[in-house]
Amino acid sequence: MNKPLRSELERRIDGAAMSMAFRVNGVNREIRADPLMRLSELLRGPLGLTGTKVGCDAGDCGACTVLLDGNQACACLTSAAQAEGRAVTTVEGLAQGGELHVLQRAFLQHGAAQCGACTPGMLMAAAELLRRKPNPSEPDVLAALSGVLCRCTGYRKIVEAVLAAANANIESVAANAGAAVGSRIAKLDGRPKITGDEIYAADRFPPHALWLRAIRSPHARARFRIGELGELRANHPGLHEVLTADDVPQNNFGIFAQVKDQPVLAAGHVRFRGEAVLALVGEYADVMSIAESEVPIEWFPETPVFELDDALLSATPLHVFAPDNVLIRGRVNKGDVEHALRDAHCVAQGSFTTSAVEHAYIEPEAGYAERIEDGSGNDRMRIFACTQTPYMDRDEIARVLQLDPAQVHVVPSAVGGGFGGKLDIAIQPLLAVAAWICKRPVRGVFTRPESMASTTKRHAARMQGRIGCDADGVLIAADFFGDFDTGAYASWGTTVANRVPIHASGPYSIANVRALSRAVYTNGPIAGAFRGFGVPQSTFVHESLLDDLATGIGMDRLELRWLNAIRAGEQTATGQTLTASCGLSQCLERLRKPWREAQANAAAFNAREHATHGSGRGYRRGVGIACMWYGIGNTVIANPSTIRVALRSDGRILLYNGAVDIGQGSSTVLAQICADAIGLPVRLFDQIVGDTDLTADAGKTSASRQTFVSGNAARFAGEDLRARLLALLTAPDSAQLALENGALIARTQDAESRALLSALHADEKNEIAMGEGYFDPPTTPLDANGQGSPYATYGFAAQFAEVDVDLELGTVKVLRIHAAHDVGRAINPTQVEGQIHGGIAQGLGMALMEEYHSGRTDNLHDYLIPTVGDVPPIVCYLIEDPEPLGPYGAKGVGEPALIPTAPAILNAIRHAAGVRITHLPATPDRIRAAILSASE
Ligand code: FES
Repeated sequence: MNKPLRSELERRIDGAAMSMAFRVNGVNREIRADPLMRLSELLRGPLGLTGTKVGCDAGDCGACTVLLDGNQACACLTSAAQAEGRAVTTVEGLAQGGELHVLQRAFLQHGAAQCGACTPGMLMAAAELLRRKPNPSEPDVLAALSGVLCRCTGYRKIVEAVLAAANANIESVAANAGAAVGSRIAKLDGRPKITGDEIYAADRFPPHALWLRAIRSPHARARFRIGELGELRANHPGLHEVLTADDVPQNNFGIFAQVKDQPVLAAGHVRFRGEAVLALVGEYADVMSIAESEVPIEWFPETPVFELDDALLSATPLHVFAPDNVLIRGRVNKGDVEHALRDAHCVAQGSFTTSAVEHAYIEPEAGYAERIEDGSGNDRMRIFACTQTPYMDRDEIARVLQLDPAQVHVVPSAVGGGFGGKLDIAIQPLLAVAAWICKRPVRGVFTRPESMASTTKRHAARMQGRIGCDADGVLIAADFFGDFDTGAYASWGTTVANRVPIHASGPYSIANVRALSRAVYTNGPIAGAFRGFGVPQSTFVHESLLDDLATGIGMDRLELRWLNAIRAGEQTATGQTLTASCGLSQCLERLRKPWREAQANAAAFNAREHATHGSGRGYRRGVGIACMWYGIGNTVIANPSTIRVALRSDGRILLYNGAVDIGQGSSTVLAQICADAIGLPVRLFDQIVGDTDLTADAGKTSASRQTFVSGNAARFAGEDLRARLLALLTAPDSAQLALENGALIARTQDAESRALLSALHADEKNEIAMGEGYFDPPTTPLDANGQGSPYATYGFAAQFAEVDVDLELGTVKVLRIHAAHDVGRAINPTQVEGQIHGGIAQGLGMALMEEYHSGRTDNLHDYLIPTVGDVPPIVCYLIEDPEPLGPYGAKGVGEPALIPTAPAILNAIRHAAGVRITHLPATPDRIRAAILSASE
């Protein structure tokens, strides 16, 4: 049905084309093509080698790195003519004779590929290094990989893998029946990511699909009028449709039923720069040849509001239903904060701000939509796209098209990173409307600037906090107020405003808490879900203030946190009594020894620097710590997952897994859980993932919920299937199941039952038995004071950072991060470490370099994310305080990994340089300004 990109690019074989010869992956190829065509296009198009990924088309991300005559080259910056006559090696050329390259095996076993979007580029960069230098040092590896960005892994597993490959130190891990949970098996979906076979959203589409290109607003706030389109159509016969707001059946969508505030195509009025106003649909070359000046749009710019106070005071709100521009308010109130703060021995207080942060997943939004006939004469819509939430997409697309949800079929592609950014529909409704109207498949790929301008960000925030303690350091009151800039549309602003107050006093037992929040509309970029839903911002406040308190009462910073760490039997800010799996104090205990050593090391280093350079010069080393907690799953609202699993007559186990794996490893972890619940080896598993026609709804991949919620559903599904198989064999519960030589076997100590699979009745899908599991975590609604049990369980962590600050330049080098995380149970320790590493890398970016400014940083050279050289060694300590409700005790770790990193680094900067930075990111100019200000 779906063929890789070929026909449209072959169209470029025109008068300007010339015949060119290449040696591609060891095979001589001759092709006529435009000599100025990008090599990446040539590879992915006429040559059908979609293993080479395109993340930016600007040479910034390195995902398209290939080897040209053995040397690294960005295929997006290399023309076909430059490659002519040369040897081109792509990821598809690494494996030889069906044998994986040593690097590929190492990447697989070390968990070096998460989403896999950067992996082909990383592998090629590493292959060049090993060819040049078979025994590289770690600095050699860092240098070799420095041109390729990874947003998922934090790079450390990649560096490990390259060094392991050089030493041929690769041991594959297998898990026997009943031993999958806790084992470090390689990702079950890992192989296609390291061979280039994985199909991402831009890699597949039906032949003759039309191309969609959105025309977007250059203004943050404006009225506009679309003129007569006849001339445009006449000048471009390959332009099939020009879609406007009038063509969208229901032109508003949004995450929450009560706030459908975002149009698919703006209707006469735009609220942020980058908003789509019109869609050109037609033949690729024709659509792409249209200059924006040819599109008759008359703009009437208005004064935008970007500042929170301007928005709150504006007489012209963005939306009529929010006259004060406040989307929602959040509130938690327990005890008497003012009274307690008056009585406190010591009070720390401060104001803090954070910037908007871009997800910067390496795969931009892409996909195709097609209107299909269901065999009964009814039309349906099929969407193939990258998403974190296929069922929500299905329902929202159905709403936009005014169809029944059953008429929409969402088929998720492999997802090249999400981090919350692919929880909102972005390209999907445009494609769906176009395909429905054109009755032709329609595809599209966002450019990197388009992706960055039009999709959601982490909320910029403005926050104030006060925390008080008694003379012994016991926290007695916490007060928080935060405004979160939700931009032009609501997206997940409601979740952020609700989640923040619950978490804003930190993972501590505090009798008096008041935490208030607002999500405020502005004409800034839409802010939505991004790894933590506002908790990373509020954690910056309480962890900065905890350091102030420790200084104020002369107490060690770790010990103050340990003293106050919430423990089982104690109450949260919402009055919820935690009964188990509260591992924060254990996390801190694991950090105590390295924390003391790091402080001693810093003191010795600083004494040497001072002696050498004097005060105010040279480097200073600092150590900073921060803690976090995070409610796993949705806040209060229902949060169910359903998973199914079947034994097939060929002896394979098919997991119907509705939980989309965006690189974090759920496809592996859920299979491990399910395998042990059945009692059969995980190597027997196949999976269907996220297809809304074939899998049950396992909810969205967000809120760190898949291991805990869908993991439980997978466990129950496995237990259900096991019970059915034992019943088939009339075997007792205690029996050990096995599949041997085409037979299903149940063994006890003194008996064995067996049946040939071929003799067991199977349905039309060759399935002998099906198990189903369902789990919805128990929560209770919050009352008007935010009191109740919003989550069934919480993750806990403490991290500390060691940094060097250049006092004269204000630059920061993070030397090492120690990360202790209570994950309940590590279902797959390699995957857990990978999440911790990746979260820390994103937290480091948030701390030191990442700030999104619409129109100024819509690319990956002006918007900086950490490179392989920025992420230091990370020491992980996995604390397993089992969660009784969790599958084999497990909780989630995806978001907890990021949350404490930025405050830990900021506290380390303060320890090093003696200045408290109150704005994220702490860029060198801000640090230098603070140092100068402190010395005046
Ligand atoms: Fe590197 Fe996802 S694994 S970007």
